[in-house]
Amino acid sequence: MSKGTKSDRRPKQDAKTNGSAKNGGKKKHKKGKKKKDRVPAVPMAETADRHDLYERAVQDCASDVDFLLHAWHEVYGEDGSPRHFREDFCGTAAMCAEWVRRHPDATAEGFDIDTEVLDWGRVRHLAPLGDAADRIRLHEGDVRDPADRPADVRCAHNFSYQILERRSELKDYFAKCRRGLSDRGIFVIDLYGGSDAFVEMEEEREIEDGDYTYVWEQRTFHPATGHMDCFIHFRFRDGSELAEAFEYSWRLYTPPELRDILHEVGFREVRTFFEEFDDEGDGNGVFSRDEEGPACEGWIGYMVAIP
Ligand SMILES: C[S@@+](CC[C@H](N)C(=O)[O-])C[C@H]1O[C@@H](n2cnc3c(N)ncnc32)[C@H](O)[C@@H]1O
Repeated sequence: MSKGTKSDRRPKQDAKTNGSAKNGGKKKHKKGKKKKDRVPAVPMAETADRHDLYERAVQDCASDVDFLLHAWHEVYGEDGSPRHFREDFCGTAAMCAEWVRRHPDATAEGFDIDTEVLDWGRVRHLAPLGDAADRIRLHEGDVRDPADRPADVRCAHNFSYQILERRSELKDYFAKCRRGLSDRGIFVIDLYGGSDAFVEMEEEREIEDGDYTYVWEQRTFHPATGHMDCFIHFRFRDGSELAEAFEYSWRLYTPPELRDILHEVGFREVRTFFEEFDDEGDGNGVFSRDEEGPACEGWIGYMVAIP
């Protein structure tokens, strides 16, 4: 599996483990070097940037935007293109940046409640765009807040909509998503599931040939409510760890529940797409239309809602 495909956001069972090799255990002894002159190595976890680690481990904005454009054209044909994009739960707004890079008339709005992550995104993703950054507006606000303009494509990615644990809250959000679309709009969420999604477990995956290890932990899962407490940890080859770098408390919704709610708020059609598997059973980064889905340990997909 190449780095950064959608599949990478969910750790694989057969991912290489641990990433805790401690530099081969070699110690350097320099003649004449006094012990007191040695500068102790700073643990890698102490200088790591959690947003950078997160993006490298779980996001692939180019593929995400490719999919959004594909899904839009599949609904509305080749006559015209979507121009205005709304990224809910935008975090670092990496997708907004990717969106405006695709066309000189493309515009984007991102919504997130966290000042710190928005500021990080302004520096990392918006500043390098130069004048094109003027076509992005970041709102420090709730995803249920109104936008400046109706969106041609609106999305809520990395399963963030699941923080709306009460069905009534999610329904209210989806209703606002529908109302906030343009005449030729789509609303897209991503999905994950499979038998592994319903258990308490921890999985590891090496990133960039052992640069660091991404750890996904499903610490608690309550079958009666679907409530989960999940964490992302990062482990480094010097043995240090950035524990609980990110924490998610949410309800694991299933595709039929999501489909029902989307229809209840007035979306006339809801399509599902699932990632295909290669011969070794890994996701291959290709998402195909499939209204049934794979019965397996772990899968990811998209749901496209059409008003
Ligand atoms: C899992 S991150 C998603 C980041 C990015 N969209 C991605 O695909 O990786 C979830 C983000 O949702 C934000 N968030 C949580 N609740 C929110 C709400 N009610 N309205 C807006 N943003 C919210 C958090 O601050 C966090 O940055």
